Amino acid sequence: MLLIKPDAVRKHYTGEILARLEKAGFLITGIVMRRFNRAEAESFYAIHKRKEFFPRLAEFITSGPVVAVRLEGEDIQHRVREFIGVTDPARSKAGSIRRDFGTSVPMNAVHASNPEENVESELNFFFSNK
Ligand code: RTP
Ligand code: MG
Repeated sequence: MLLIKPDAVRKHYTGEILARLEKAGFLITGIVMRRFNRAEAESFYAIHKRKEFFPRLAEFITSGPVVAVRLEGEDIQHRVREFIGVTDPARSKAGSIRRDFGTSVPMNAVHASNPEENVESELNFFFSNK
């Protein structure tokens, strides 16, 4: 799953990010737009709850709507993470989503489920009635 974060939605990048995914051959099988409340942000980012950056992260992710995009395909989570770049847009490779649409570590345009973390729970968060 990919999440377009509030910074990118605010800057009108939603359509362009979706178009890039499709042009790269990813199959979109679900889209949901919604705004997190604080409790939802804490649940979604539970893995980071004890980190020093968590208050900033929670503040930011609740600052406006996000767009959750369900993608399907073989080895999908690894391929998506490769496609978006690394956490810091400035260190992401040319042509990656974060390099082109992100501006800083907190405002890095997108989130992607980490296969080593909790892909299923993130998907259920947005697409529970599939
Ligand atoms: P994501 O989970 O959003 O796909 O990003 P990631 O795996 O590349 O990065 P992760 O370590 O999981 O961190 C989650 C998000 O928290 C924000 N962050 N802020 N020092 C900071 O201010 C800081 N460090 C991380 C980033 O927006 C990151 O995407
Ligand atoms: Mg992560």
